[in-house]
Amino acid sequence: MAQRILSGVQPTGNLHLGNYLGAIQNWVEIQQDYDSYFCVVDLHAITVPHDPKVLAENTRAIAALYLACGISLEHSTIFVQSHVTAHSELAWLLNCITPLNWLERMIQFKEKAQKQGENVSVGLLDYPVLMAADILLYDADKVPVGEDQKQHLELARDIVIRINDKFGSEDKPVLKMPEPMIRKSGARVMSLADGTKKMSKSDPSELSRINLLDPPDVLKKKIKKCKTDPVRGLEFGNPERPECNNLLSLYALLSSQTKEAVATECAEMGWGQFKPLFTDTVVSALEPIQTKYNELTADQAYLDQVLRDGQTKAAEVADTTLKRVKDALGFLPAL
Ligand code: AMP
Ligand code: TRP
Repeated sequence: MAQRILSGVQPTGNLHLGNYLGAIQNWVEIQQDYDSYFCVVDLHAITVPHDPKVLAENTRAIAALYLACGISLEHSTIFVQSHVTAHSELAWLLNCITPLNWLERMIQFKEKAQKQGENVSVGLLDYPVLMAADILLYDADKVPVGEDQKQHLELARDIVIRINDKFGSEDKPVLKMPEPMIRKSGARVMSLADGTKKMSKSDPSELSRINLLDPPDVLKKKIKKCKTDPVRGLEFGNPERPECNNLLSLYALLSSQTKEAVATECAEMGWGQFKPLFTDTVVSALEPIQTKYNELTADQAYLDQVLRDGQTKAAEVADTTLKRVKDALGFLPAL
């Protein structure tokens, strides 16, 4: 039996190059080697204040982008997290065995809570437990994510140790231990406005990120305005030049060249020469994704069917695991 992978992206706004290079492109490359599950994590999207008018639309858009980026239904199941009710239910069960102080020290919680100020929801604190439920319901062997999710994966692993210790036995564990799968290149794509900050959906400035659906004129404008430095000659790995390292890394990844080839090509270049070259590379890398996305959004019935099939398949696996957990915790089975 093939090992299983599971991952997800929140339907909060548009996907950017960080999501693509840090996560989805990796999913596309490895999907045929695994039994692959990819969900749109809409329950996570309401852990910060959200607009109910756009949640459904954003959820569809992310599902369509999965397909447009090359997730194939031959190898993968695509579904919406809230369509499989076992996610919320397992999250509750796991809540009751997760110590509060494990959650209070999560970096992403601290960052988001600080950004939001007042009125942080319990859901935001509980976010990593819901994420653990997503992963553990599918007995996932591996979880392909960007570097920023490593701490959440460790928490999921700690939860597995705890539940198995309390309610399972050596030969009959309650839940399976997942492994993070973080690839080196692209694991951390930085902001166009500040090479020391990660590219993020929540940055208020649109100029800080490249979205997968940005049309060519917008890409051109963003790249023209992106932060650089006054040094001539471009290089990787100089800590004084974080923007230079980020842009060259993106160029290498999107043009499918090695770092060495790019380092040689750009060693003598100034920004005036690099930026148009980089713009062309980004535009041609995104064009096939955008074309496919437009085709998919024109056929709503097809996407509906994909998500319906995904729900059926995902729920079958998830419900079986949930039952196993409820039995281990000693619940009276439904009569
Ligand atoms: P999110 O946008 O927070 O739902 O993240 C979805 C996926 O994209 C996760 O696997 C993240 O690790 C990955 N990701 C988000 N931002 C970046 C970034 N700037 N660089 C690399 N990966 C990222
Ligand atoms: N927390 C992840 C992120 O922001 C999204 C996510 C939710 C996820 N559930 C998951 C990723 C399960 C992998 C597996 O990127």
